Amino acid sequence: MTDAGPVPGRSLPTSARAPGKCVLFGEHAVVHGAPELVLAIDLHTQAVVSRSDRSRLNAEPDAETQNPYFREALAAAGPAAGPVDVRTVSRIPRSAGLGSSAAFVAAVSAALAAGVGGLDRPALAQRCFSIERAAQGVGSPGDTSTSVAGGYVTLNAGASGGPLLWTVREGNESWEVRRAEDPGWSWVVAYSGIPRSTADAVRAVSARLHQPDGASLLAEFTSVAEAGIHAVTGGDRQETGRWLRRNQELLREVGVSHPRLEALLEAAAPASEGAKLTGAGCGGSIVALPIAGREVELVRRLARAGAVPFPARPAPGVELVELGRSP
Ligand code: PMV
Repeated sequence: MTDAGPVPGRSLPTSARAPGKCVLFGEHAVVHGAPELVLAIDLHTQAVVSRSDRSRLNAEPDAETQNPYFREALAAAGPAAGPVDVRTVSRIPRSAGLGSSAAFVAAVSAALAAGVGGLDRPALAQRCFSIERAAQGVGSPGDTSTSVAGGYVTLNAGASGGPLLWTVREGNESWEVRRAEDPGWSWVVAYSGIPRSTADAVRAVSARLHQPDGASLLAEFTSVAEAGIHAVTGGDRQETGRWLRRNQELLREVGVSHPRLEALLEAAAPASEGAKLTGAGCGGSIVALPIAGREVELVRRLARAGAVPFPARPAPGVELVELGRSP
């Protein structure tokens, strides 16, 4: 995937759409500096931004005080960007581990930035993370940077994670975001229907990683993510499957699996190279790498097990779209 350039300036009304994501390796551990591999998927949030007498989100006049993501996005865009009427439509299920809040922040921020002359992508990625951090309190820039960059993205992976896209900073923490090679595969993502809070799960795992065996667990997360990134970018399906299963064992060990997710992983097993939960866990979604040629069977198996499955292909990063185009 070629890397898109800056978000250009446009007069309002204007519209932007941003992809959701699934984490292939390294969720939770990334918050503590371990590597992560994330894929932007073709489920989108689209935002339409118009000038207005007062800021509203989907006709809600109190959204600026009630929705922290919207409030922070308006504040980060600066006074020249507002007041605005923002309408959003999204195909990304919420609280499902698929990056719905990052896609909301990226779509709204890109459209707001377009209205005040545009913004380059590294600055947009930094802005989107600062907004999400302020609204959510915890987390890494994995979701927001992937929604801004599109395609396959690594964090904290060093040179083997691909060419550097940008570095995101917050206080004395920093994360390198890199463009990983696309192996040309389709994945299958399946939502369990069980919503959960990312922030609660992140706090619970942080507490677990501060126990005496936390450092060795984090080292295992690191080596599994490194091996997984190597397998995906090298196009090795069987090795990828093996490391997906190992990553799931670690996620189970830190307490973020769920009986429904385990049932879905079992249902997926005969038609997949490997599978794991994706995102914060405790509900949410799984991601599976199909055995080549058995994608339809895998989707059917997951649907029969009661999930909402869909094939997932890499999507471009946030982009401005012609008004009237549907997400
Ligand atoms: O479940 P989501 O889509 O919010 O993904 C969370 C991924 C974590 O690694 C658990 C947190 C983070 O911010 O990286």
